[in-house]
Amino acid sequence: MMRNILLTGASGSLGKKILLSKKGFSFLSPSKEDLNICDPDSIQAYCEQKSFDTVIHCAALARMGECEKEPAKAFEVNTVGTLNLVRAIRKVEKTIKKNIRFIYISTDGVYSCDRGNYSESSPTIPYNIYGWSKLGGEAAVRILKNFCIVRTRFYDPENIPFTESAIDIITSSIQVEKLIACIQFLVNDSFKGVINIGSTACSEFIRYSAHKPQLKKCTRSDIVKNLKFEIATNASMDLSLMEKVIKD
Ligand SMILES: NC(=O)c1ccc[n+]([C@@H]2O[C@H](COP(=O)([O-])OP(=O)(O)OC[C@H]3O[C@@H](n4cnc5c(N)ncnc54)[C@H](OP(=O)(O)O)[C@@H]3O)[C@@H](O)[C@H]2O)c1
Repeated sequence: MMRNILLTGASGSLGKKILLSKKGFSFLSPSKEDLNICDPDSIQAYCEQKSFDTVIHCAALARMGECEKEPAKAFEVNTVGTLNLVRAIRKVEKTIKKNIRFIYISTDGVYSCDRGNYSESSPTIPYNIYGWSKLGGEAAVRILKNFCIVRTRFYDPENIPFTESAIDIITSSIQVEKLIACIQFLVNDSFKGVINIGSTACSEFIRYSAHKPQLKKCTRSDIVKNLKFEIATNASMDLSLMEKVIKD
């Protein structure tokens, strides 16, 4: 069955790539002007005109620095904006008398990211505003019947925008194309709930220098010196559920 997908955040780094990989899917990809998740009337008007059976919700204030500078905006977009979207989807579901498949792109930043190896049932104690605001979004998504919360961190091997990387920050960051393949799988699958999506844990330096050999080594404390907010120390995730659910 061809899925009709409403993709939010289609102009963002993940959304753009999801749009490019449209095998077997038909996408609605409204701009922020067409569908602003902070404006319930704009969501309502859009949903009344269009028809879809799935939502991939990528729209967010996704830069940690911006979230720290404007915390209220971070919650407005990531938490309240997600709730606004969820409310509109509930209305659509009542009209079409069917549940919509809803994939929410969350973050490994809902975990405390200090000791690593987090499973989906680990406590969620975010370490900065971005993580808290995304966790608020997760809470809103749970109102729906057919939701899937994807906790992840991703990178584009062809676009590593920094010149140095930490040898002592551990993550399960996944290549964006691999993440998209997992999202595509989840769109068609019946899995409901929370799932970690990532790749084998290693340091940021090891991961990125494999694609950008000129990358210099640094430490987490070198990075933190120039920041006014916390970043992860060990954000690695237990991927056993992903290995069980996602089939090639
Ligand atoms: N980047 C990562 O490593 C990472 C890691 C884990 C999870 N995530 C999650 O993955 C998702 C995609 O991230 P990304 O890196 O692609 O983010 P991004 O490049 O910053 O893109 C954000 C998208 O959200 C849209 N948006 C922002 N405010 C909106 C609003 N009020 N209404 C409608 N659309 C709005 C933006 O539209 P405009 O361009 O018009 O503002 C843009 O299309 C996010 O949910 C993020 O939290 C990202």
